[in-house]
Amino acid sequence: MTSNPPKIAVQHGPAAGVTRPHESAQAQVAGAVSYIDDIPEVRGTLHAAPILSPIAHGKLRGVDASAALAMPGVVDVVLSKDIPGDPMLAAFAGDEPVFAIDTVQHIGQVIGLVVARSAMQARRAARKVKADIEALPAILTVQQALQAQSFVLPPVHVRRGDAAAALKTAKHTLSGTLEVGGQEHFYLEGQIAYVLPQEQNQWVVYSSTQHPGEVQHWVSHALGLDNNAVRVECRRMGGGFGGKETQAGHLAVWAAVAARKVGHAVKLRLDRDDDFMVTGKRHPFAYEYTVGFDDTGRLTALQLMMAANCGFSADLSGPVADRAIFHSDNAYYLQDVDITSYRCKTNIQSHTAFRGFGGPQGVILIESVMGDIARHLKMDPLDVRLRNLYSDEPIPGTDQKRDTTHYQMKVEDNILVPLLSKLEQSSHYRQRAAAIAAWNATSPVLKRGIAITPVKFGISFTATLFNQAGALVHVYTDGSVQVNHGGTEMGQGLHTKVAQIVADELGIPFARVLATASDTSKVPNASATAASAGTDLNGRAAQFAARHVRDNLAAFVCGLDGCGAGAIRFHDGQVSSPKTTRTFEEVVGMAYANRIQLWSDGFYRTPKIHYDKTTLTGRPFYYFAYGAACTEVAIDTLTGESRVLAVDILHDVGHSINPGIDIGQIEGGFVQGMGWLTTEQLVWNDKGYLATHAPSTYKIPTAGDVPAHFKVDLWPEANREDNVFGSKAVGEPPFMLAISVYEALKDAVARARADGSLVRLTAPATAEHVLQALNA
Ligand code: MTE
Ligand code: HPA
Ligand code: MOS
Repeated sequence: MTSNPPKIAVQHGPAAGVTRPHESAQAQVAGAVSYIDDIPEVRGTLHAAPILSPIAHGKLRGVDASAALAMPGVVDVVLSKDIPGDPMLAAFAGDEPVFAIDTVQHIGQVIGLVVARSAMQARRAARKVKADIEALPAILTVQQALQAQSFVLPPVHVRRGDAAAALKTAKHTLSGTLEVGGQEHFYLEGQIAYVLPQEQNQWVVYSSTQHPGEVQHWVSHALGLDNNAVRVECRRMGGGFGGKETQAGHLAVWAAVAARKVGHAVKLRLDRDDDFMVTGKRHPFAYEYTVGFDDTGRLTALQLMMAANCGFSADLSGPVADRAIFHSDNAYYLQDVDITSYRCKTNIQSHTAFRGFGGPQGVILIESVMGDIARHLKMDPLDVRLRNLYSDEPIPGTDQKRDTTHYQMKVEDNILVPLLSKLEQSSHYRQRAAAIAAWNATSPVLKRGIAITPVKFGISFTATLFNQAGALVHVYTDGSVQVNHGGTEMGQGLHTKVAQIVADELGIPFARVLATASDTSKVPNASATAASAGTDLNGRAAQFAARHVRDNLAAFVCGLDGCGAGAIRFHDGQVSSPKTTRTFEEVVGMAYANRIQLWSDGFYRTPKIHYDKTTLTGRPFYYFAYGAACTEVAIDTLTGESRVLAVDILHDVGHSINPGIDIGQIEGGFVQGMGWLTTEQLVWNDKGYLATHAPSTYKIPTAGDVPAHFKVDLWPEANREDNVFGSKAVGEPPFMLAISVYEALKDAVARARADGSLVRLTAPATAEHVLQALNA
């Protein structure tokens, strides 16, 4: 890889703004960190395994567990009737049972648990439990759901202007359909929870979760207890990617109900196949659209129907489908637009958050349309994209500019025009497009293609209330510091960034600050670590907490040295007043002896955001993160196989808190997006059985798929909104840069066909789908 070398860590500089290794990197490589399954088990710990529905939809008439109960090591079977509290999960839509009650709604739905002395004993016995199910007709596809009006939540419409009228007067129109597949999270650490009974019906839950506060809420609800009786802890996840935003909660509730029944600690760790069968994935989407445009490629009207396959319950499908609507413009001004979004209920796993959270499903449609318009008009696709970007250009006959989204948010911080132009130059896009044409002319079987696509991604939870965070900073008498905040660590480097921010706020070396495990008894009511906002929210809360302690220390030093508080500087591990300089440790020791508070909380809420949930209009996002990628691919026109040859990325993280970690997020996000759009295909058979439920049949990208040329550059400007350290969120936006892979593949197919026809390429662009596109 040839990414720009991150700045080398300086010995005595500020802690933030320089590359520092992830706080756990060395210990992780040495196998010396602890995941949930590594926590030493308390005596008497039992293991649970799920009893899964073998039928997609049916009436559950009874469960016969006698054979399972007779097996070695088996202690008990746990069913819905054993739940002491509410048998329905405390999910916001209230539409999901903890364990199936009298119906089953997908193959793999959890009917109950077998509890045994070992995990293997529990798993073997779970397969021997006989569920008596009367099969009912199942809805397995989005098309069937639309036909039957089977929805988990009501449809949503967003419109501006009059798309139907604008289509009538459009110079050109194109209509089409598109299907885009789902995606398995494939976190390396699977879903797991370990529940320990404490005295007086109190509980400790170790959960691999992005949202400990929700796990606490769900477990207490199922056990019929107050929230304060349950403490949830998570030191780190081995990946979450959205898959542990809600669905880690299910495991914790299941294990807790079992622990409550058997009176022992219970661990529940799904094996990989069960994890595939039980948990939801990225929502597959289907689209129907008609677009109108002029001779210059400028879009004048868009009518769009998006149908999300949500599975059997709502879970996060509402906000996911909303975010797809919010991102169906991607970077482009949609003049007259009419979008209808359906949230389809089907008898499969309940689909959930996955990096991008519906954004990718919005962006891919409009990017696909941009490519189609270009091919229809025989223009270069980049020119069509540039023609449609948000800009300050006035709209004739109005007092408006082409700078306001279809949900009425003004794009104030638009940097895409210069960003795309810089990437166009640095990637040598025009020269390479011409060189590819020449190369293809000499290559009858292999054909190359290229595409640049931009990303504009809205940062903030669309559920406005989640945009709050808390933190605690403790300074100990030796001057060392612990920071605890409501966010969770899933590999993205949140704890590292928060520790960097705290170190700088106190003017002490990074090595003096330790971030500790997420814990509902330290910072309560914390939001999920999601929406890429982990550092924006928790980093700011921690900065404020550290600032309170620093202010206490400054006031104390002022008293000693007889100066104003503004005159005190915290830098390089020292505290300087106009009179003298002392070490941070010295000041802390003296402050303690004088009974000065050395710890504090901090709280942050994102400013400026608001929107109307019924019309989806307002300012749902504090700011946008931008980026663009130029991708070159090759396809084999005989087999349909493809390869990503070269990728150049220019991405906007504002003023980076940790360039090494940010570049890692950009590279990882891109490759994960590449997997979604190329090899990761989920296949449900005609019974609703997920046939691809292991790495043998479900192909995530490997090291060998990383493009040989993979260059990542960071946009040099700070965030124009007042965000921590001038930074921007980075976790999700780069995922959508991989749409350039899909568009480059369509370009290669178009060049191979050379008949000027539109390319219809189903995503993921597997070898089979590429062949279909070539021969359609
Ligand atoms: N990076 C790693 N290594 N592992 C993960 O699970 N999750 C992604 C992203 N990057 C993820 C990751 C998702 S879906 C989100 S929303 C953000 O990280 C969450 O963390 P942040 O808000 O701190 O960026
Ligand atoms: N992103 C991720 N998770 C969420 C969101 C969002 O916008 N809203 C609610 N949960
Ligand atoms: Mo990320 S999908 O918001 O957890």
